[in-house]
Amino acid sequence: MTRAEADGARPETTGLVLHWATGYDWLVWLVMHGRERAFRERMIELARLQGGERVLDVGCGTGSLALTAKRLHASIAVFGVDASAEMIARAQNKAARAGVTADFRQSVAESLPFAPACMEVVTTTVMLHHLGPAARRQCAAEIKRVLRPGGRWLLVDFEGAARHAGGVLRFFHRHGHIRPGELRALAEEVGFRVMEAGPLGFRNLHFVLATAPQAGE
Ligand SMILES: C[S@@+](CC[C@H](N)C(=O)[O-])C[C@H]1O[C@@H](n2cnc3c(N)ncnc32)[C@H](O)[C@@H]1O
Repeated sequence: MTRAEADGARPETTGLVLHWATGYDWLVWLVMHGRERAFRERMIELARLQGGERVLDVGCGTGSLALTAKRLHASIAVFGVDASAEMIARAQNKAARAGVTADFRQSVAESLPFAPACMEVVTTTVMLHHLGPAARRQCAAEIKRVLRPGGRWLLVDFEGAARHAGGVLRFFHRHGHIRPGELRALAEEVGFRVMEAGPLGFRNLHFVLATAPQAGE
């Protein structure tokens, strides 16, 4: 339990929280030109999931990535946090409808409600651009705390979003901007080692797969 939860208060964020959960799923479908399934499966492939792992999706939205991970790797345990009550409610509904066990909780990325070193994999997909630089660093430090040594962090986001986002995305990128190379820099700043990085193959999305430092590193 985080300090804020122990005090009975919900932790706060300076990030941009989305409250239109049903509309969000429609937007993703539109932006991905109906290729959302391939988009989610590509991210799960990049995360290199193995049986029995505990996987946390931070800023999970309506839970699509966590539920895809569970569909492809039945023996993993999936967790998701999002600052939005509406997103979490929809994620929980989607899991119930799919008959899938998934632990979705309303919480902020800057203060994750998990014990140290309890996850093998953490994902942050298209959410870091919702956070300002200070919140991004807090989020990175929290991800390092909850990952076991050698655990993997998959970062996916629009690099250069403010200049290159086209069409409908132009309206959703006034709040944040990830400069080229910034995903890698964020991971390295908190001591992660980059294993693989590059374009995701969808729009101007880029990924970084990085491992948490071993004890003593
Ligand atoms: C563009 S959506 C991405 C959702 C999901 N990861 C996906 O791939 O579809 C960004 C999400 O980040 C959430 N968010 C913004 N600030 C946050 C914070 N500080 N902590 C947790 N979630 C946050 C928003 O509520 C929103 O659901």
